Order: sequence, then structure tokens, then C-alpha cells
Amino acid sequence: MPYVNRWFETVAVAQRRAKRQLPRSVYGALIAGSERGTTLDDNLAAFGELGFAPHVAGAPATRDLSTRVLGQDISMPVMISPTGVQAVHPDAEVAVARAAAARGTAMGLSSFGSKPVEEVVAANPQTLFQMYWCGSRDEMVQRVERARTAGAVGLILTLDWTFSHGRDWGSPSIPDKIDLKTMVRFAPEVIVRPRWLKSFASTGRLPDLTVPNMAPPGGPAPVFFGAYGQWMQTPPPSWDDVRWLREQWPDAPFMLKGVMRVDDAKRAVDAGVSAISVSNHGGNNLDGTPAPIRALPAVAAAVGDQIEVLLDGGVRRGSDVVKALALGAKTVMLGRAYLWGLAANGQAGVENVLDIMRSGIESALLGLGKASVADLEPSDILVPDGFIRTLGAD
Ligand SMILES: Cc1cc2nc3c(=O)[nH]c(=O)nc-3n(C[C@H](O)[C@H](O)[C@H](O)COP(=O)(O)O)c2cc1C
Repeated sequence: MPYVNRWFETVAVAQRRAKRQLPRSVYGALIAGSERGTTLDDNLAAFGELGFAPHVAGAPATRDLSTRVLGQDISMPVMISPTGVQAVHPDAEVAVARAAAARGTAMGLSSFGSKPVEEVVAANPQTLFQMYWCGSRDEMVQRVERARTAGAVGLILTLDWTFSHGRDWGSPSIPDKIDLKTMVRFAPEVIVRPRWLKSFASTGRLPDLTVPNMAPPGGPAPVFFGAYGQWMQTPPPSWDDVRWLREQWPDAPFMLKGVMRVDDAKRAVDAGVSAISVSNHGGNNLDGTPAPIRALPAVAAAVGDQIEVLLDGGVRRGSDVVKALALGAKTVMLGRAYLWGLAANGQAGVENVLDIMRSGIESALLGLGKASVADLEPSDILVPDGFIRTLGAD
């Protein structure tokens, strides 16, 4: 077989490969987005509007990228954001967890992920378990207990979800389960993606669309849409509910993901969370929500001295990470960037993406004359007039 170099130099290249290699509906499920895609586009465009104010001499000889966040020492201020069930690669979240561990960083595992929390923690002990407000309190306690017993190091509660699914470019059709009937239905798009098909064929398994971390104790894993239906029927939580969930594991790091407003950030502090992620669910939720990088400065100014403030949404380069840190984030989380890497080249592809982030952060720090990611400050960044959006300030 001819030698094929699967290394890629940017996340954009990985995305192009993913598009070529994945069946159309799997690629479409990763692109996701909602309605007009205004938020999806703004998440990426906003980073492009920010500039740097570089030095040309006087930089230190070495740079320290390491940081501590969510109780974890990590090698750089980049970690894995939780993403739900994907038939991208047979090893799915386990491959991602191995890659994150190999590059010294932490992993967020979605409760709607396709691999059991026990396997993911075994691959990366720096795993936080992500939950939605779904089901009864007893069921949520069971999920927390399972994650704690498995050795997860903390919880992420994601609340920014409004069950809106229409997309102007059309939603992919996602089957409930993969059986012979669905294989026949999806055959035309799968047959033209031999590499993807081969990756599953070599494991002797078909993509599994169940969500094992939503299983009742000792019970079978529900299918994705079964669990999704339960979530849709669960009344939305109050701030007292957030406090209650936080109290189920009071000594572990607890992050509320999806906060965009200053008033919500303050309520999250009152509810006892130890961290928030300024995030709009990667543009998959309420379309028209601004990019998180626009909302970050006001949120970080309001609560950054009390809890850890992270950001996710639109991060595709090391320089994006540096911009977010300079504007107040402690660490960023990656979503699609690592999914493109996973699709393009499995575990090695995710490592490749993390290496792209590391070298991009290194370059930006060198240009800015910084010895450490901790030294970044707003004056390193050119913020155009009107860029910042302050939501919910009283
Ligand atoms: C395909 C897909 C599935 C996702 N599933 C989840 C999930 O299960 N839980 C969660 O908290 N966030 C989920 N997210 C949101 C990501 O954690 C993250 O907030 C988002 O992808 C960041 O934006 P980016 O993709 O531009 O980096 C998902 C995102 C995508 C693209």
C-alpha cells in the first residue's frame, strides 16, 4: 500500500478531509448549527475581527503554556468539550480521550456520548462528565454516582438547549439505530465513503447509536432518540435545581456550560458552581446569540475573580486560544476542531489538532513577547469598536 501522509497543517484542512471521508449525513450532523446559521457563522467570524499588537524583539527564550483549571493540571489552556453521539470513528470518545491524555489535557465526556464513562476515564483519568437536565432527580443522582464511581474528576452541567432543529440548509437524517433496513437506506451515501466504511468494517461492528451513560443501573443503554425524548419532557431547571445538582458532588469541580449573560454568571456563582463556560453550544442552539468571544469580557469582569471562566465556540487555531485568554478566559474548550481531526485520522488526528493548537499558542506568545499564557492581557489584543456584547448587565 502506498504511504499516505495523514498529517494536516490546519483544522480547515482536517475539516475538508472529514467532508470527503464521512457519509454526507454524518458530516451534516457535525456541522449542525440552527436556523439561519447566524450564530454558527459569528462564532468563527468574531475571532477574525480581533487583532494582535505584536513586539519584534525582547521576547523570552521559552514559554510556559501549562495551566491549572477545574482542579486539573493541564499542559496547555485547551481541553476537549463534550460532544454527543457520533458515528465518526469506531473508537469515538475513547480515541479522543487517549489523544487528550497523550497531549496532557482534560476531556469532557457527554452523557449523550457513545462510550461508557468507565472506558473513557480508563483512557484519560482527567475526564469530567457532562450532563443535561434530563429525567428525574433520582435518575440524575444515579448518573452522578456512576461517573464518580468510574473516577470522573468533576461534572459539567450544560443548560443551553432549546430543542430547535430547523436549518435552512437542511438537517441530516439520523437513524434511530443501524440495522439492515437503515443500511440499505443509507447505502448510496456510505458506499462512496470507503475509508469510513472500512474503519467500521475492520472492527466487525456497525456504528452504535445508543447512549450507554444514560442507562439505568444494570439496564440496557437507550437509543439516542429515546434519551432525547426523555430530555424534551423534563421541565427546565430553576437556579435551585442547579444548586441541588451541584450539592450532589460538592467537593468536585462543577462547571455550568452555556452561560452568555452577566446576570446568569452571577446567579451561577450564587448556586455554588466553581466554573462556567461562556458558550452558545457551538451555534447549535438559539440562533442569533452572539459569539461567546464577544460576551466573554463582560462576564469575566463580573465573576472572573470568584470562579473560573472558560470559553468554547469557534476555536480553530492557537491564536484564537490566545485571544480568548487575553480577554479573560482561563482555558478554552474545543468542539468541532477535534471532531474534524477524529474524522480525518482517528486518535492521531485529534493529537494533530492539539499539536496545531499548541504551536499556534507558542507562535502568538512569541509574537506578543510573553513568557507564559498567564501573562496575556487585554492590551495584547486589538478589539474593534462595537465588538463586545454585554448581555444581562444590571
Ligand atoms: C456534533 C456536536 C455535538 C455536541 N454535543 C454536545 C453535548 O452532548 N453536550 C454538550 O455540552 N455540548 C455539546 N456540543 C457543544 C460543544 O461542547 C461545544 O460547546 C461546541 O462544539 C463549541 O463550538 P465549536 O464546535 O465551534 O468549537 C456539541 C457540539 C457539536 C458540534
